[in-house]
Amino acid sequence: MADQVPPSPSIAPPQPAHVKNSNLAHLNPLPPSVFTLPQTAQLEALYTIIRNKETSRGDFLFYSDRIIRLLVEEGLNHLPVIPRTVETPTGSVYNGVGFEGKICGVSILRAGEAMEAGLREVCRSVRIGKILIQRDEETTLPKLFYSKFPADIASRYVLLLDPMLATGGSAMKAVEVLMEHGVPEERIIFINLIASPEGLTTFCGRFPSLKVITGWIDEGLNDKAYIIPGLGDFGERRYCS
Ligand code: URA
Repeated sequence: MADQVPPSPSIAPPQPAHVKNSNLAHLNPLPPSVFTLPQTAQLEALYTIIRNKETSRGDFLFYSDRIIRLLVEEGLNHLPVIPRTVETPTGSVYNGVGFEGKICGVSILRAGEAMEAGLREVCRSVRIGKILIQRDEETTLPKLFYSKFPADIASRYVLLLDPMLATGGSAMKAVEVLMEHGVPEERIIFINLIASPEGLTTFCGRFPSLKVITGWIDEGLNDKAYIIPGLGDFGERRYCS
């Protein structure tokens, strides 16, 4: 008698477009200034790849770049627009909108630098500043080591780039420095791949007028301040093989 062929495990049932937002329960209620990407199965599949410790550096780059692109697009959705009327090639008038103000990116080094390319892909010739914050060994507090911003940053909307929001210490220091350079809190949009509930609560509590765009809210932090389940050290995975 011929062997019975077992049903193929590769034929998966159709995926629902949206997965259960159980990760959002890690911070309930969400602060009103926090916006997550739509928690679809597609997005969760991208996160599953970049979280996997077996994922190659090439795949980590490719799939984290896909998420970064979605985050930047979502960040741009929060910029104000003003009415703009154009004439189309058909001779018709179209009453649309245009962006109101100028933007720039500011990456928190070093991991935030990985998000610059995603911003440039979407906003051609965007100005990008940089900021380096590290732990002061004496005080253990986040300390500014280096910053370079466009001269007119005070008149721009700032997309502040950092992939991992753990304790929130670096992000808060970066916002302080931006505000010292004249950027109003409400003109800052923080763009982030993975946030811890603790970091989000502290950050948004301190700066309630800035907006946070995050892709995923994880469970918490371990005793080394790594995000759990997280993806490990973003910079290591991105820059080292
Ligand atoms: N930075 C990282 O790269 N990973 C974490 O989990 C936390 C901070």
